[in-house]
Amino acid sequence: MSDTDLEDLPGVGSKTAEKLRDAGYDGLMSIATMSAADLSEVADLGNKTANKIIQAAREELDLGFQKGSDKMAERENMSKITLSSTKFDDLLDGGVETQSITEFYGEFGSAKTQCALQLAVNAQLPEEEGGLDQGVIFIDTEDTFIPERVEQMAEAKNMDPDDVLDNIFVARAYNSDHQILLGDKAQDIMKDNDIGLIVVDSLTSQFRSDYVGRGQLADRQQKLNEHMHTLQRLANTHNAAVVVTNQVMSNPGQLFGDPTSAIGGHIVGHASAFRIYLRKSKKNKRIARLVDCPYLPEGEAVFQVTENGIEDA
Ligand SMILES: Nc1ncnc2c1ncn2[C@@H]1O[C@H](COP(=O)(O)OP(=O)(O)OP(=O)(O)O)[C@@H](O)[C@H]1O
Ligand SMILES: [Mg+2]
Repeated sequence: MSDTDLEDLPGVGSKTAEKLRDAGYDGLMSIATMSAADLSEVADLGNKTANKIIQAAREELDLGFQKGSDKMAERENMSKITLSSTKFDDLLDGGVETQSITEFYGEFGSAKTQCALQLAVNAQLPEEEGGLDQGVIFIDTEDTFIPERVEQMAEAKNMDPDDVLDNIFVARAYNSDHQILLGDKAQDIMKDNDIGLIVVDSLTSQFRSDYVGRGQLADRQQKLNEHMHTLQRLANTHNAAVVVTNQVMSNPGQLFGDPTSAIGGHIVGHASAFRIYLRKSKKNKRIARLVDCPYLPEGEAVFQVTENGIEDA
């Protein structure tokens, strides 16, 4: 949940931490949600100390209320990354936001990866050109991070392709556990580097192949949930944008509308502030639809994918 060890909490020595871990309380969240009575029993502590530890864990996790004005101040730091298409940017009221998770979902070839790569380039643009002037972390689960394609997109924007590639930390995730680990590692990279965007392309494919069968669904959803929490925390603490891609599965039970739904169900849906459904249109045209945004109207934008990357149709 957090990179703080139990030992970092005031009043928790190595002995107490060990007792807690033995009893199954190994994360800050499990401590933060305990009662002082339970904690003092499990860890053999006085009530007062137990209370102090719980308070510290809660503060560390930032679980309390916040004033609307603080929330507003946070939002004022929020920036946006352009998608290189005015229609697409308009749909999102300016582009992909920092401090939030944005999900691109759609069938194969719908341009999820193209959007992800374009954003990895555009995040590096100066702010007045719709970028963040910051670096990128790219977690690649399908081996679709193609440097040549990034070069192409960078050149189209008169950016130095070598610099652009230099500012992207790419890691290939070999399975879902590895992907989760890379999410945690992203934190270390972000301590030492100025990162404005984290991409996970694709969020769900490894989970889908590692957890097959109905019996494993709950496990899969729990792991996925944890992974999304890590990403959301990085987005908040570093004022970074998080972009994830997601495939769709056909949903033959649905009679009206588009009979497809995103993998990962409500876990991924609820964790993403912005969900963009991409579908193919004629030739190189694609349609983006903003789905379920808490404060922007639903709508659609048509864009195209060319050698230059994403563009207005
Ligand atoms: N260099 C290029 N020039 C023009 N169009 C390109 C180029 N590279 C990719 N495309 C377009 O992008 C499409 C592929 O989109 P993309 O790889 O983003 O799909 P995806 O949604 O990620 O699919 P998947 O689910 O398979 O990962 C191609 O069909 C092609 O139309
Ligand atoms: Mg792809």
